[in-house]
Amino acid sequence: MADALSITQHYHQRTKYDPETLAQRGRPLDFSQQPIPYKDYKFGTPIPLKDYLELENQTDPILVQWQKLSRLLYCSYGITAVIPYPHQPLYLRAAPSAGGLYPAELYVIAGSGTFLPAGLYNYQVRTHSLIHFWNSHVWSALEAACLWHPALATTQLALVVSVVFQRSAWRYEDRAYRRICLDTGHLLGNIELAASMCDFKAHLIGGFVDHQCNQLLYLESDQEAVIAMVALADLLDVEQNLPPTPTLLPSPTLEDYPPLADGALLLYTHTATSIETEEITYSSKIPAFLKEDKYNFPFGLKVPLTNTPIPWGEHLIHLKETILKRRSTRQFTGAPLSLADLSYLLSFTYCPQQYRQQGLDGNPDFFDLDLIQTFIAVLDVTDLETGCYYYAVQAQELRQIRFKNFRRELHYLCLSQDLGRDAAVILFHTADLQQAIARYGDRAYRYLHMDAGHLGQRLNLAAIHLNLGVSGIGGFFDDQVNEVLGIPAEEAVLYITTLGQPPQRSAPAARD
Ligand SMILES: Cc1cc2nc3c(=O)[nH]c(=O)nc-3n(C[C@H](O)[C@H](O)[C@H](O)COP(=O)(O)O)c2cc1C
Repeated sequence: MADALSITQHYHQRTKYDPETLAQRGRPLDFSQQPIPYKDYKFGTPIPLKDYLELENQTDPILVQWQKLSRLLYCSYGITAVIPYPHQPLYLRAAPSAGGLYPAELYVIAGSGTFLPAGLYNYQVRTHSLIHFWNSHVWSALEAACLWHPALATTQLALVVSVVFQRSAWRYEDRAYRRICLDTGHLLGNIELAASMCDFKAHLIGGFVDHQCNQLLYLESDQEAVIAMVALADLLDVEQNLPPTPTLLPSPTLEDYPPLADGALLLYTHTATSIETEEITYSSKIPAFLKEDKYNFPFGLKVPLTNTPIPWGEHLIHLKETILKRRSTRQFTGAPLSLADLSYLLSFTYCPQQYRQQGLDGNPDFFDLDLIQTFIAVLDVTDLETGCYYYAVQAQELRQIRFKNFRRELHYLCLSQDLGRDAAVILFHTADLQQAIARYGDRAYRYLHMDAGHLGQRLNLAAIHLNLGVSGIGGFFDDQVNEVLGIPAEEAVLYITTLGQPPQRSAPAARD
């Protein structure tokens, strides 16, 4: 046994950035080795989807189905911008990705009786098309591989997210697994919201027999593996309006593992978080989540937040526009954010029930948000003292834990990225790994990072709609963040989102 930590605790510890180890690690990137972020199929039938995007006022039910699927895929992961680098253009997608490396692949599985012939499809982002690479019935095998998830008994369409490890590991080495799961979470956030825009409900499935799912899609599992599934319920079909379904199952906890060389840690950790047994199945009931604020510090300022939803317009038109124009901000001006805008950002991200009236899913699927805490470093927000706050979601208040302007320190903690220095607000998602692993085994590590990315995507979209700048940060000095900001030591930092004023602001956004 290497030590008393479980494999994902060991992974987390080993992949922490620290001022000393990071300085030793610095190495130039060999761009000739960078994997291509697309998958080609030699066989299969291409199905173009572009034409369906523009169809308006369709009444033909089959065309409506094609249009829904085409819009869903495009708004989730389609190409929305291009950077014309001379040697090779970089195509940017609707979902952000650490380093623009796009480890995630998106597949569609069709059961019988849908507008799509049954079988397996890969979403080809460059051409916004599907490639039908397997045309047999696989739905029963999918249900078995997903341990009889109740949503698959009624639906006939599913999305699958797989990840190609080397696309991200090429640059970020073993730490890439964190970013791979965060990227996937952003993509799941888009899928959840785009699904609502297209009258689908995305039922998230995180517990499945990994090797069966990988085999189902013909993946070489030492290179690419399924990481999340989504059963797509068509809300225009009464029978598919299902009650909430469970999203996750536990894996074992592995404490007995061999010494692992650098470079071997990522794949070993992913494999060790697999579910290999068919003996557990989903129950039709969802577990009762606590929904309690974890921290209530006896000292410090408490700031109540007003909870006003962002109006997304008729048929969520502004949400669609926002998804398609979202970009990660490359620079902030250092100017302040208003407290009202901070409230809007938090309202959209953490209070989904408020958005039901606008046609959004009021109870979107996450894995387990009870396990994730939010801390907010306020650098410059009008009418709010600088410092670090715990965000008590249930009480809707900010609870100050340190009062100081951390601008200089945050620049350093974010590996000297100027985004960390010039932001107005920096938000940290954290979790107690030991508690999470006690609940869900080592697979909790996937769930936590995907949920953190999912929350990050909601923050991204709210910020873009409000004409603010936003960017995720996946590289930071882990332990030092806790020490400097006063975040309890047992809270492992999963992800950082920076928010602030971008250099150019377009016309003011609709607020209320
Ligand atoms: C998980 C994650 C981590 C990221 N980390 C950083 C970062 O540390 N620094 C940075 O400048 N951008 C970071 N980004 C932003 C990406 O560089 C950006 O998403 C990518 O270049 C694609 O551009 P787009 O978001 O405008 O589509 C991150 C994004 C994600 C999803």
